[in-house]
Amino acid sequence: MCGIIGYQGERNPKEVIINGLKCLEYRGYDSAGIAILNDGKLKRVRAEGKLENLNKKIENIDFNGHLGIGHTRWATHGAPSEMNAHPHYVDGVSLVHNGIIENYMDLRDELLSCGAKITSETDSELVAHLVAREFQISKDLLKSVQKVLPRLEGAFSIVVASEDQPDRLVAFKNGPPLVIGQGDGETVVASDIQPIVAYTKKVFYLEDFEIAEVTREKVEIYNLKGEKIDRMPLEVSWSSEKAEKHGFPHFMLKEIFEQPAAVQRAIAEYLDIEKKEIQLGDLGFSDTFDQYIAKANKKNAIETDEILKNVERVFIVACGTSYYAGLVGEYLIEKWARVPVEVEFASEFRYRHPVLPKNSLFITISQSGETADTLAALRLANESDVTSLSICNVPGSTIDRESTGHIYMSAGVEVGVASTKAFTSTLALLNIFGLYLGKLKGEVDRDEEVRLVEGLIHLPSQMEQVLSYDKFFSQAAETLKNFKGFLYIGRGVNFPIALEGALKLKELAYMHAEGYAAGEMKHGPIALIDNRMAIVVVAPDDDLYEKTVSNLEEVRARGGQIISIGTEGNKKLKELSLHLLSLPKSEWSINAILSVVPVQLLAYYVANALGHDVDQPRNLAKSVTVE
Ligand code: AGP
Repeated sequence: MCGIIGYQGERNPKEVIINGLKCLEYRGYDSAGIAILNDGKLKRVRAEGKLENLNKKIENIDFNGHLGIGHTRWATHGAPSEMNAHPHYVDGVSLVHNGIIENYMDLRDELLSCGAKITSETDSELVAHLVAREFQISKDLLKSVQKVLPRLEGAFSIVVASEDQPDRLVAFKNGPPLVIGQGDGETVVASDIQPIVAYTKKVFYLEDFEIAEVTREKVEIYNLKGEKIDRMPLEVSWSSEKAEKHGFPHFMLKEIFEQPAAVQRAIAEYLDIEKKEIQLGDLGFSDTFDQYIAKANKKNAIETDEILKNVERVFIVACGTSYYAGLVGEYLIEKWARVPVEVEFASEFRYRHPVLPKNSLFITISQSGETADTLAALRLANESDVTSLSICNVPGSTIDRESTGHIYMSAGVEVGVASTKAFTSTLALLNIFGLYLGKLKGEVDRDEEVRLVEGLIHLPSQMEQVLSYDKFFSQAAETLKNFKGFLYIGRGVNFPIALEGALKLKELAYMHAEGYAAGEMKHGPIALIDNRMAIVVVAPDDDLYEKTVSNLEEVRARGGQIISIGTEGNKKLKELSLHLLSLPKSEWSINAILSVVPVQLLAYYVANALGHDVDQPRNLAKSVTVE
């Protein structure tokens, strides 16, 4: 789960690498480092902690070379410290690594017995030793890496530089992503495309078990047998998005406030506002990824419709917040399309020998498109006779490329480790997908479509209204932070929102929080309730509202302090609650999206009041590329 980058070309490598690491910091932020050519030597600077610590260290250092590598780390082997930070350097060879070398203990023993001086606790340094040893013999970086690879077990990617061949980098991928950008007399290798598109739109996505020898002028890709692979670069249209806070104190708060615009962007693609109609268009089921990206007109929906009409079962597989979005999808798709839906944690799905009947649609949801468990589940599904569809925020990410159909969240770069706008954009897209499937299956009639499309059209402006609770939570947080714990409850489609609210509070405020189906409270969790426990109830107006209110009466009778998220004008909820946050009147499916905003704000402000780093909470990384 680290971020790696390499650059060679006329620009200042320090700037390119540091800017690239800023884009990649979501992949880990416990230490960072660079190694850049200077007077023919790979000069290395590393620092424990966030990237800004490295930045301070190198501010006044100049490098006169034009090649370098950089790394931002999420520790697996060895504590987060300067000693364990990358790049590793052994006898003129420097290396950055993302992933895990599983046989590191054997390699370590072997190297120690040969007298190697090992200076860190990492598995990564051992690879640098092995490559350096091979380089002494072959004097060729590509050959050295090729020689070492068969000795390494595990899923990992590396980028290697050598002082004795200062005109090239060698990159290898098996697992964690690596993208190579080919510019005009310059090349960039990175863990994702964002650090690259600022310089070039021509990219090569390395596949597993491919090695690339990268010079300023060319990129040559080989398989493990050493055979050259002919590949043209893919021309992408994505542009670089600068991660800036635009006056907000944190990226997370900025991203919470960006949600109306993000949702608007996500749904605009699929709505004909004048006709009040949903058009899913061509999701690319019949094309390869490269063909789909190159296709200008994605409006020809015939094949997509044919495939979707035949869908008899839907599986949604994802992790964390994306999994909760999947649970919302289950309620929507089953209600509108009357197709059975199963939602599962990717980490469980892949190990339970799942049965995937023919005519199943296998949906993955992933903001990053790189989550290891979700990717493994997708690969498993792709081996059987099902159609896969990804809902991703990062076009060209591994999950996007390996899926047969594609829907994009269009939420824009999400920097805060806690997912916000990607979640609400996904919920809006699941509304669209569920309704469209319902239409194709003849379960949603024109009147219902018009009514629900109107709901979606109003969603962005209603989200704006709900954002005004920002003020409330900025003040209430001082009291809320003193509760001993939080229970989030909801029924129906609001139950996953309760789960998401609890996850947000856990990951940001490090407080005990649990999400529960409101009707389940009496089966155990009600024992937790006393007056030091806050209960956040998501209970907007819908068919289950009255039932949730009854559950709340039980909570209230036991002293629980209730914070309600309901619909405006709802008297009963107001009477029961310490605070009522009312949402504008909307469709049941839209209420669920509106309810997300208050739970995000609550977590943000409580974490902030506790003095936590909300953008980069402890122990987490935004993209989890290890199992
Ligand atoms: C969300 O706030 C979390 N940081 C985390 O649960 C995340 O949603 C999960 O790791 C899945 O990530 P993905 O959407 O990039 O696959």
